[in-house]
Amino acid sequence: MIRPLRGANALLTGGSQGLGPLMARQLAEAGVNLAISARSADKLEAVAQSLRDTGARVIVVPADVTVGTDRVRLLTQTERVLGPIDILINNAGMENNGRYQDKSPAEITQLVDLNVTAPMLLTRAALPAMLERRRGHIVNLGSLAGKLGLPWGSVYGGTKAAIIAWSQALSIELEGSGVSVSVVSPGYVSDTGMFAVHGRKAHPILGESKPEAVARAVVRVLETGAPEIVVNPTPFGPLQALHALAPGLIRWGMNALGINRFIRETYVKPR
Ligand SMILES: NC(=O)c1ccc[n+]([C@@H]2O[C@H](COP(=O)([O-])OP(=O)(O)OC[C@H]3O[C@@H](n4cnc5c(N)ncnc54)[C@H](OP(=O)(O)O)[C@@H]3O)[C@@H](O)[C@H]2O)c1
Repeated sequence: MIRPLRGANALLTGGSQGLGPLMARQLAEAGVNLAISARSADKLEAVAQSLRDTGARVIVVPADVTVGTDRVRLLTQTERVLGPIDILINNAGMENNGRYQDKSPAEITQLVDLNVTAPMLLTRAALPAMLERRRGHIVNLGSLAGKLGLPWGSVYGGTKAAIIAWSQALSIELEGSGVSVSVVSPGYVSDTGMFAVHGRKAHPILGESKPEAVARAVVRVLETGAPEIVVNPTPFGPLQALHALAPGLIRWGMNALGINRFIRETYVKPR
């Protein structure tokens, strides 16, 4: 938990498109100084320009978070310009859905590198300074795909399950240290981001959230210190409890209610 948020310094990865710019806006409106990062420098500059009306201090640090030297530069440049990092938001991520057997080893490795290894190592590098100051908050982006295995997204779901378990464990491990860890897990998100690019409406049983709701959840975990928030229009807890009690029933339901067909039509190209 970071109180007050106004005047805190945050590093946000994945700031160039999708959900990142909306997180940046809500953080900037809350008075947070921001370093926004991604690989596309031009898109980052445009996001920074769009935030000028908030009056927040926004710097742009282009970096590929899967590259070790880029991660070091990202942290040192942010600290040099803004000062100590209070908040790290590990938002950069990608999906590469489709038939598992069609994915090359390089594609699988790339997904794990970006969605799992990069946030773990960026956090590992940022943590000592936060612990030293007894002040910090790490926010990781999970996904409902990491809480319930969905077909044709097995590697993505696996990476997000790893992020959720790692976040839960680290949050407990760091209790009392002054550093909090939270994971925000959205379901399908409309209008912008990795699901919206497919141009489909989510299956009605799963529903879809507005991207602003995900950004609001990020601000909320910072303000409250909540270790975990699920962002979904329909309650996900009962479904997860039912899955734990009767996984066969959920498997049957996913098929009978057309959820599997919806996912296949979204992500699997006909041969
Ligand atoms: N949108 C959804 O429906 C949804 C649902 C659940 C969870 N999530 C999670 O929310 C987060 C944001 O998703 P999104 O929908 O906003 O995705 P997105 O629109 O695809 O944006 C991904 C962001 O990550 C950056 N990125 C990709 N590879 C990178 C790399 N190697 N190094 C640094 N930055 C990199 C991209 O910028 P560059 O290409 O410029 O590098 C971009 O800013 C992800 O972690 C995702 O898993 C999204």
